[in-house]
Amino acid sequence: MTASRQLLAGRSSGQVSDIMVAMGESISLDIELYREDIRGSVAHARMLERIGILTAEERTSIENGLRRIKTEIESGSFNVDFALEDIHTHVETRLGELIGETARKLHTARSRNDQIAVDTHLFVRRCAAEIAGLVWQMCATLYERAASELDTILPGYTHLQIAQPVRLSHHLLAHFWSFIRDLERLDRAARAADRLPLGSGAMAGVNYATDREFLRTDLDFREIYSNSMDAVSTRDHILEFLHALSVCALRASRVAEEIIIWNSMEFGFIDLPDELTTGSSIMPQKKNPDLAELIRGKVGRVCSHYQNLSMNLKSLPLTYNRDLQEDRMPLLDADRQMRLILPALNAMLAGMRFRTERMRASLQKGHALATDLADALVVQKGLPFRDAHHLVGAAVARCEELGCTLPELPVDERENISPLLADDDFYGAALDLAASTDRKVSAGGTARTRQLEQLEQAGQALSQWKKHNWRFPPLDF
Ligand code: ARG
Repeated sequence: MTASRQLLAGRSSGQVSDIMVAMGESISLDIELYREDIRGSVAHARMLERIGILTAEERTSIENGLRRIKTEIESGSFNVDFALEDIHTHVETRLGELIGETARKLHTARSRNDQIAVDTHLFVRRCAAEIAGLVWQMCATLYERAASELDTILPGYTHLQIAQPVRLSHHLLAHFWSFIRDLERLDRAARAADRLPLGSGAMAGVNYATDREFLRTDLDFREIYSNSMDAVSTRDHILEFLHALSVCALRASRVAEEIIIWNSMEFGFIDLPDELTTGSSIMPQKKNPDLAELIRGKVGRVCSHYQNLSMNLKSLPLTYNRDLQEDRMPLLDADRQMRLILPALNAMLAGMRFRTERMRASLQKGHALATDLADALVVQKGLPFRDAHHLVGAAVARCEELGCTLPELPVDERENISPLLADDDFYGAALDLAASTDRKVSAGGTARTRQLEQLEQAGQALSQWKKHNWRFPPLDF
């Protein structure tokens, strides 16, 4: 079986085998690039008019036809035919049906090689900005929740073992700052995509006085690729975007994992809203954090897309090779998954209820203030640290035997270990949770004063990024 494909026929018959059609089509994916592809064609038509290849009338007719195609795609009435391979050929074929002969002039001074390049540049620039909007939203949520949890104290962990008490604001802001760095990376990806490849033709340039500066301005690119061979073969912009998304996804998975742990019966630090959890079909007591687990699961997929594209590019000679068509799946899927992952995580962060009494109980059970007590013996009672460490170790061991917490250890028990521990005022003050965090006065530490300072910095970062100029590509026309 063969299919007819006259538009791409050239020196061949225009008949292609089914396997060629099945292997060669990218329309099932790159239909998603229709806005970029159409806008690129509008800019190209305007430029062709400028250099005298199209009349004003022809250009207007092309623009109107393209506008109509856009509406058809958006309303779902557009016909897809795998034999027409890709978005470029679909648009051009339909344009011919709509406006006739003039459509045949549009591909002057252009190749699908520089056309797909300009499409993905516009796409990455737009999507980096849109994903950044989702990341920003999450930062705003983390900031707001941090601001109202300044006086909630919970255990900080190392090795998933209780380490030291920290303010909940501190924990939430730790995630805040890491997501802010994702905005920096997305900005870099957007900049990598802010360069015009159109006008490079198949790879050597074109036999027309193409006005690339006009194209640059019309599509609002910051720069123009200096080398046509580079322009049609690079996929750096997609790699940078996938890298930014992978790093962001990795941290989303870490936050999701914490949500799963905090939501467990054993921790019980949070309650997730019912609508963000699922029940079990057999165990009536269950309220599962599926959303967080799905995030964890999807992250592997997002990260694999970076690997996918880098393997595609490995050892690929200049310039365009058909392998490059395979860039579509990793690009589009990573983007789509991040548009699910980020709002899902944001919804959980915004909706979770903090169970502060459980956090406090964990701190006590985990003897989180043991180090503070040892330090107090050093500072206030003049004991060498090694001796203080030994005494507190003995007190903790006794607590374990008696099944109590350090503050609950009876005074006679403390007296037996050391008379220094029998001083109630001293003992109580050393084991005060808020006082413990407030001793962490170093810059970036968990003391209340430092938290206020950090919230101030976080607020500034948020408003700076809100004002950031993402240079949205002009897709309307
Ligand atoms: N569908 C192709 C792609 O996405 C467009 C470029 C085709 N170029 C070619 N020389 N066959 O990469």
